[in-house]
Amino acid sequence: MPRKKITIVGAGNVGASASAYASARELGDIVLLDILEGIPQGKGLDMFETTPVLGVDTKVIGTGDYGDTRDSDVIIITAGIARKPGMSRDDLLATNVKIVGEVAEKAAARSPNAIMLVVSNPLDAMVYTAWKKSGFKPRRVAGMAGVLDAARFRSFLAEEIGVSVQDVQALVLGGHGDTMAPLTRYCFVGGIPITKFLTRERLDQIVQRTRDGGAEIVSLLKTGSAYYAPSAAVIEMAASILLDKKRLLPCAAYLDGEFGEKGLFVGVPAILGANGVERVVEPDLTPEEQAAFAKSVAAVRGLMADVDKLL
Ligand code: NAI
Ligand code: 2OP
Repeated sequence: MPRKKITIVGAGNVGASASAYASARELGDIVLLDILEGIPQGKGLDMFETTPVLGVDTKVIGTGDYGDTRDSDVIIITAGIARKPGMSRDDLLATNVKIVGEVAEKAAARSPNAIMLVVSNPLDAMVYTAWKKSGFKPRRVAGMAGVLDAARFRSFLAEEIGVSVQDVQALVLGGHGDTMAPLTRYCFVGGIPITKFLTRERLDQIVQRTRDGGAEIVSLLKTGSAYYAPSAAVIEMAASILLDKKRLLPCAAYLDGEFGEKGLFVGVPAILGANGVERVVEPDLTPEEQAAFAKSVAAVRGLMADVDKLL
């Protein structure tokens, strides 16, 4: 089987960490691209020099030239500005819509058969931007947020209960913003409902901490936003695609009638395989959960209207 090729656009905190995780997992050869001169080249070479220590045969290069990205299997977009204290993800829209639109168009032109994964914020609006500018079929584009939000939820719950993070399953629906909807009814510890372990009040506090998870890191770092968990999360999605594992992961996927919605990307459970988003799965929702999801959809549609004005 020919070696897989992964392009990561944006060699900043998320892009460089994603590249390191992908290399360590030997998922394929990696091209790390940025507009900065020397940074992607230096980081790429540093990572390539790490491969003998890790015992992996991945080629990692850094570049500013889209020609090097030709025929990638997966394109990961992390280019753009990140939040600083006092900023919401939505404050990034006007700047990032131009960056993401441009890089999606350039990368897609060199790798027309790739699957594109978007990380840049505001996430749901940037996936929509990348889809529009790439010309890709909608199910070949997806965004990373749900794996991160669910990982935050799972880690807080595991710590609180005193169990392995591996045994906590959680699902977060909706947009990657203040309206995200962590679904406690679909949260289990080793198959046992979470409500067996925690009071409703404590659970609600952990849900709120999950919603504020991004801001909590920004307030500590002060100079930018989270990157270890986000980069590991997007590589989990990339691995499912590259290895055709068909993981069922929460991701920003295109809805074509599912959940009664059409024509937008928003966080839902989806099966990821070699063809990208192969199926969107619709869990039953209570009226309260439906209302939370609808609120999130409305917020995402508002951002899409802003994107349409700028594109
Ligand atoms: P960063 O500032 O460390 O890196 C961004 C990189 O993009 C920089 O190296 C910059 O030079 C590069 N860049 C800017 N314009 C470019 C262009 N036209 N072409 C190529 N590269 C370009 O930021 P970080 O922390 O890596 O975050 C990246 C993005 O990911 C931000 O928008 C951030 O909000 C978002 N993010 C999203 C998460 C999610 O859950 N979806 C989680 C974490 C971050
Ligand atoms: C996060 O949730 C900034 O969206 C990013 O950490």
